[in-house]
Amino acid sequence: MTKAKGLLIVFEGTDGTGKSTQLNLLAQVLEKKGIDVVSSFEPTNGVYGQKIRALYSNRKETSREDELELFLADRKEHVENLIAPALASGKVVLLDRYYLSTIAYQGAAGLDPADILARNTFAPEPDLALLFHAPIETGVTRITENRGDTLNDFEKEDYLRKVQIQFEEMDLPCIKRIDANRSIEKIHQDVLRLVFTLPGMK
Ligand code: ADP
Ligand code: TYD
Repeated sequence: MTKAKGLLIVFEGTDGTGKSTQLNLLAQVLEKKGIDVVSSFEPTNGVYGQKIRALYSNRKETSREDELELFLADRKEHVENLIAPALASGKVVLLDRYYLSTIAYQGAAGLDPADILARNTFAPEPDLALLFHAPIETGVTRITENRGDTLNDFEKEDYLRKVQIQFEEMDLPCIKRIDANRSIEKIHQDVLRLVFTLPGMK
């Protein structure tokens, strides 16, 4: 059912667009079909991921370059320990955020998007990047009201508007854009259609 090299499908977009919700729904469908699925997320829970989470409440104290280095170190560890081995054994890997987030979020923070992309060449290219788009206010309301969370330093509305512009300007062959301002079920149907038209899926 899957190519020998596996498939890498990443969920990207601003906060509260429904990435984790849709990743979980897709994982359930694939598992029911007997496909070997590995789900993961970035920042990870590894040593660098934990350092990144520590920045959520006081982002101002770290330079943008140091912050980028942390995201890259976290991803290198993730690729070596989980992503590359899973792909090598033919699994379908689903990721909640990957290097498109680095381009968008660290790009919005003032770093050069092309340079960020160039520093991610160690990371396997996604077969499909589902890029979720919804108004920033909608995402923020979903986070604060539905999920009951408060906004961290990466989730301030004016910053997220800049992040969204970075996502809009991105032009990579793996990207498929999804209107995330609809019902969970409608979005899920779009996700299934895009995933099941990938070469190697049926
Ligand atoms: P993300 O991973 O993109 O930050 P989540 O999947 O965690 O977003 O969704 C944020 C909140 O919004 C959750 O409470 C979730 O149940 C809810 N949610 C997800 N998708 C939708 C949707 N299409 N419409 C309304 N609420 C949604
Ligand atoms: P998020 O998916 O919201 O994780 P959590 O559920 O732990 O809050 O990601 C955390 C934040 O990190 C999110 O606002 C986006 C940001 N981020 C970057 O700035 N650069 C990156 O490379 C990644 C992967 C995430």
